[in-house]
Amino acid sequence: MSIKLSRNPQIGYVPRPVVIVSCSDGEKGADLVTVSWTGVLCSSPLLVYISLRPNRYSSGLIKKVGDFVINIPSVHQVKLTDYCGIVSGRKVDKIKASGLTLKPGVKTKSPYIYECLINFECIVKEIISLGTHDMFIAELVYEHIDQDILDEEYNIKTGNLLVSAFGEYWGTDGPLGQCFNIGLDFKAR
Ligand SMILES: Cc1cc2nc3c(=O)[nH]c(=O)nc-3n(C[C@H](O)[C@H](O)[C@H](O)COP(=O)(O)O)c2cc1C
Repeated sequence: MSIKLSRNPQIGYVPRPVVIVSCSDGEKGADLVTVSWTGVLCSSPLLVYISLRPNRYSSGLIKKVGDFVINIPSVHQVKLTDYCGIVSGRKVDKIKASGLTLKPGVKTKSPYIYECLINFECIVKEIISLGTHDMFIAELVYEHIDQDILDEEYNIKTGNLLVSAFGEYWGTDGPLGQCFNIGLDFKAR
Protein backbone atom coordinates (compact mmCIF):
# COMPACT_ATOMS: atom_id res chain seq x y z
CA MET A 1 0.00 0.00 0.00
CA SER A 2 1.23 3.55 -0.80
CA ILE A 3 1.70 6.17 1.93
CA LYS A 4 -1.03 8.84 2.31
CA LEU A 5 -0.38 12.57 2.66
CA SER A 6 -2.79 13.25 5.56
CA ARG A 7 -3.39 16.89 6.53
CA ASN A 8 -5.92 19.73 6.85
CA PRO A 9 -7.91 19.96 3.57
CA GLN A 10 -7.23 22.30 0.64
CA ILE A 11 -9.94 23.17 -1.86
CA GLY A 12 -7.66 22.61 -4.86
CA TYR A 13 -7.87 18.83 -4.52
CA VAL A 14 -11.67 18.59 -4.64
CA PRO A 15 -12.80 17.66 -8.20
CA ARG A 16 -15.72 19.69 -9.49
CA PRO A 17 -17.68 20.56 -12.61
CA VAL A 18 -17.29 23.84 -14.44
CA VAL A 19 -20.27 25.65 -15.96
CA ILE A 20 -21.17 29.07 -17.33
CA VAL A 21 -24.11 30.62 -15.52
CA SER A 22 -26.16 33.15 -17.48
CA CYS A 23 -28.37 35.68 -15.76
CA SER A 24 -30.49 38.72 -16.56
CA ASP A 25 -30.53 42.25 -15.16
CA GLY A 26 -34.32 42.16 -15.42
CA GLU A 27 -34.27 44.47 -18.44
CA LYS A 28 -32.25 44.07 -21.64
CA GLY A 29 -28.89 43.31 -20.06
CA ALA A 30 -27.38 39.96 -19.07
CA ASP A 31 -24.17 38.54 -17.63
CA LEU A 32 -22.16 35.32 -17.87
CA VAL A 33 -20.14 33.92 -14.95
CA THR A 34 -17.99 30.82 -14.71
CA VAL A 35 -18.89 28.67 -11.71
CA SER A 36 -17.31 25.56 -10.24
CA TRP A 37 -19.15 25.56 -6.93
CA THR A 38 -22.23 23.82 -8.32
CA GLY A 39 -24.04 20.50 -8.15
CA VAL A 40 -27.23 18.59 -7.42
CA LEU A 41 -28.89 18.71 -3.98
CA CYS A 42 -32.11 16.72 -4.34
CA SER A 43 -33.86 14.56 -6.98
CA SER A 44 -37.44 15.47 -6.20
CA PRO A 45 -37.93 18.38 -6.18
CA LEU A 46 -34.96 18.65 -8.54
CA LEU A 47 -32.79 21.08 -6.61
CA VAL A 48 -29.38 22.31 -7.67
CA TYR A 49 -27.05 24.94 -6.25
CA ILE A 50 -24.46 27.46 -7.28
CA SER A 51 -22.28 29.32 -4.77
CA LEU A 52 -21.15 32.85 -5.62
CA ARG A 53 -19.06 35.41 -3.80
CA PRO A 54 -21.37 38.35 -2.97
CA ASN A 55 -19.13 40.81 -4.84
CA ARG A 56 -19.74 39.12 -8.21
CA TYR A 57 -21.79 41.28 -10.59
CA SER A 58 -23.82 38.18 -11.45
CA SER A 59 -24.65 37.57 -7.79
CA GLY A 60 -26.50 40.91 -7.50
CA LEU A 61 -28.40 40.25 -10.72
CA ILE A 62 -29.53 36.79 -9.61
CA LYS A 63 -30.63 38.14 -6.21
CA LYS A 64 -32.66 40.83 -7.99
CA VAL A 65 -34.24 38.68 -10.72
CA GLY A 66 -34.56 35.35 -8.87
CA ASP A 67 -33.41 32.95 -11.57
CA PHE A 68 -30.42 31.83 -13.63
CA VAL A 69 -29.40 29.27 -16.25
CA ILE A 70 -26.61 26.71 -15.83
CA ASN A 71 -24.95 26.22 -19.24
CA ILE A 72 -22.69 23.18 -19.72
CA PRO A 73 -19.78 23.98 -22.05
CA SER A 74 -17.88 21.55 -24.26
CA VAL A 75 -14.10 21.15 -24.36
CA HIS A 76 -14.13 23.41 -27.43
CA GLN A 77 -15.35 26.29 -25.24
CA VAL A 78 -12.52 26.04 -22.69
CA LYS A 79 -10.99 29.46 -23.38
CA LEU A 80 -14.38 31.15 -23.42
CA THR A 81 -15.26 29.44 -20.12
CA ASP A 82 -12.08 30.67 -18.47
CA TYR A 83 -12.58 34.17 -19.92
CA CYS A 84 -16.04 34.43 -18.31
CA GLY A 85 -14.33 33.61 -14.99
CA ILE A 86 -11.59 36.22 -15.34
CA VAL A 87 -13.48 39.39 -16.33
CA SER A 88 -16.48 40.98 -14.61
CA GLY A 89 -19.74 42.00 -16.24
CA ARG A 90 -19.37 45.27 -14.35
CA LYS A 91 -16.57 46.24 -16.73
CA VAL A 92 -17.10 44.14 -19.86
CA ASP A 93 -20.15 43.07 -21.83
CA LYS A 94 -19.19 39.38 -21.93
CA ILE A 95 -22.06 38.51 -24.24
CA LYS A 96 -20.84 40.98 -26.86
CA ALA A 97 -17.20 39.98 -26.33
CA SER A 98 -17.95 36.26 -26.66
CA GLY A 99 -20.19 36.52 -29.72
CA LEU A 100 -22.46 33.91 -28.12
CA THR A 101 -26.14 33.58 -28.98
CA LEU A 102 -28.49 34.16 -26.05
CA LYS A 103 -31.98 32.69 -26.34
CA PRO A 104 -34.85 33.68 -24.04
CA GLY A 105 -35.52 31.26 -21.20
CA VAL A 106 -38.80 29.36 -21.41
CA LYS A 107 -39.42 29.51 -17.64
CA THR A 108 -36.75 31.99 -16.56
CA LYS A 109 -36.13 35.67 -17.23
CA SER A 110 -32.48 34.69 -17.62
CA PRO A 111 -31.44 33.73 -21.16
CA TYR A 112 -29.54 30.57 -22.07
CA ILE A 113 -26.42 30.16 -24.23
CA TYR A 114 -27.42 28.37 -27.42
CA GLU A 115 -23.84 27.25 -28.23
CA CYS A 116 -23.46 25.36 -24.92
CA LEU A 117 -24.36 21.67 -25.06
CA ILE A 118 -26.87 21.62 -22.19
CA ASN A 119 -28.82 24.41 -20.50
CA PHE A 120 -30.68 24.13 -17.18
CA GLU A 121 -33.20 26.85 -16.35
CA CYS A 122 -33.27 27.36 -12.57
CA ILE A 123 -35.53 29.32 -10.25
CA VAL A 124 -34.02 30.45 -6.94
CA LYS A 125 -35.75 29.02 -3.86
CA GLU A 126 -33.37 30.07 -1.11
CA ILE A 127 -30.12 31.96 -0.63
CA ILE A 128 -27.86 30.94 2.26
CA SER A 129 -24.85 33.04 3.29
CA LEU A 130 -22.20 30.45 4.14
CA GLY A 131 -19.09 32.59 4.57
CA THR A 132 -17.04 33.59 1.55
CA HIS A 133 -19.87 32.41 -0.73
CA ASP A 134 -23.66 32.70 -0.89
CA MET A 135 -25.34 29.46 -1.85
CA PHE A 136 -28.25 29.81 -4.28
CA ILE A 137 -30.53 26.80 -3.94
CA ALA A 138 -32.69 26.60 -7.04
CA GLU A 139 -35.24 24.34 -8.67
CA LEU A 140 -34.27 23.06 -12.11
CA VAL A 141 -37.47 23.75 -14.04
CA TYR A 142 -36.57 23.30 -17.73
CA GLU A 143 -33.71 21.96 -19.85
CA HIS A 144 -32.37 22.25 -23.39
CA ILE A 145 -29.98 19.60 -24.76
CA ASP A 146 -28.05 19.64 -28.02
CA GLN A 147 -29.49 16.64 -29.89
CA ASP A 148 -26.10 15.91 -31.51
CA ILE A 149 -24.79 14.63 -28.16
CA LEU A 150 -27.73 12.25 -27.58
CA ASP A 151 -28.27 8.72 -28.84
CA GLU A 152 -31.68 7.47 -29.99
CA GLU A 153 -32.68 6.77 -26.35
CA TYR A 154 -31.69 10.29 -25.29
CA ASN A 155 -28.61 9.12 -23.38
CA ILE A 156 -25.51 11.26 -23.76
CA LYS A 157 -23.34 9.48 -26.34
CA THR A 158 -20.38 11.85 -26.50
CA GLY A 159 -18.12 12.61 -23.60
CA ASN A 160 -16.71 15.97 -24.55
CA LEU A 161 -18.14 17.93 -21.61
CA LEU A 162 -15.77 20.23 -19.75
CA VAL A 163 -14.80 19.63 -16.10
CA SER A 164 -12.21 21.19 -13.80
CA ALA A 165 -9.91 19.53 -11.31
CA PHE A 166 -6.67 20.42 -9.59
CA GLY A 167 -6.64 23.95 -11.08
CA GLU A 168 -6.90 22.69 -14.67
CA TYR A 169 -9.63 22.13 -17.22
CA TRP A 170 -10.08 18.56 -18.39
CA GLY A 171 -11.94 16.79 -21.15
CA THR A 172 -12.17 13.08 -21.57
CA ASP A 173 -8.82 12.96 -23.34
CA GLY A 174 -6.86 14.66 -20.56
CA PRO A 175 -5.89 18.15 -19.38
CA LEU A 176 -6.65 21.19 -21.57
CA GLY A 177 -5.02 24.09 -19.70
CA GLN A 178 -4.84 25.95 -16.38
CA CYS A 179 -7.85 27.64 -14.74
CA PHE A 180 -7.60 31.47 -14.50
CA ASN A 181 -5.01 31.33 -17.29
CA ILE A 182 -6.10 29.70 -20.55
CA GLY A 183 -8.81 32.37 -21.03
CA LEU A 184 -6.28 35.22 -20.93
CA ASP A 185 -5.69 34.81 -24.66
CA PHE A 186 -9.41 34.47 -25.47
CA LYS A 187 -10.05 36.66 -28.49
CA ALA A 188 -13.09 38.80 -27.77
CA ARG A 189 -15.14 39.28 -30.94
C1 LIG B 1 -12.74 27.78 -13.26
C2 LIG B 1 -13.40 28.91 -12.52
C3 LIG B 1 -14.37 28.61 -11.58
C4 LIG B 1 -14.99 29.64 -10.85
N1 LIG B 1 -15.95 29.31 -9.93
C5 LIG B 1 -16.54 30.29 -9.22
C6 LIG B 1 -17.56 29.95 -8.27
O1 LIG B 1 -17.96 28.80 -8.11
N2 LIG B 1 -18.09 30.97 -7.56
C7 LIG B 1 -17.70 32.28 -7.72
O2 LIG B 1 -18.21 33.18 -7.03
N3 LIG B 1 -16.75 32.62 -8.63
C8 LIG B 1 -16.17 31.66 -9.38
N4 LIG B 1 -15.22 31.99 -10.31
C9 LIG B 1 -14.84 33.38 -10.49
C10 LIG B 1 -15.88 34.19 -11.31
O3 LIG B 1 -16.29 33.48 -12.46
C11 LIG B 1 -15.22 35.54 -11.72
O4 LIG B 1 -14.92 36.30 -10.58
C12 LIG B 1 -16.07 36.35 -12.70
O5 LIG B 1 -15.23 37.32 -13.30
C13 LIG B 1 -17.23 37.05 -12.05
O6 LIG B 1 -17.96 37.69 -13.06
P1 LIG B 1 -19.14 38.74 -12.75
O7 LIG B 1 -18.54 39.84 -11.90
O8 LIG B 1 -19.57 39.21 -14.12
O9 LIG B 1 -20.20 38.02 -12.01
C14 LIG B 1 -14.62 30.99 -11.07
C15 LIG B 1 -13.67 31.28 -12.06
C16 LIG B 1 -13.06 30.26 -12.77
C17 LIG B 1 -12.03 30.59 -13.82
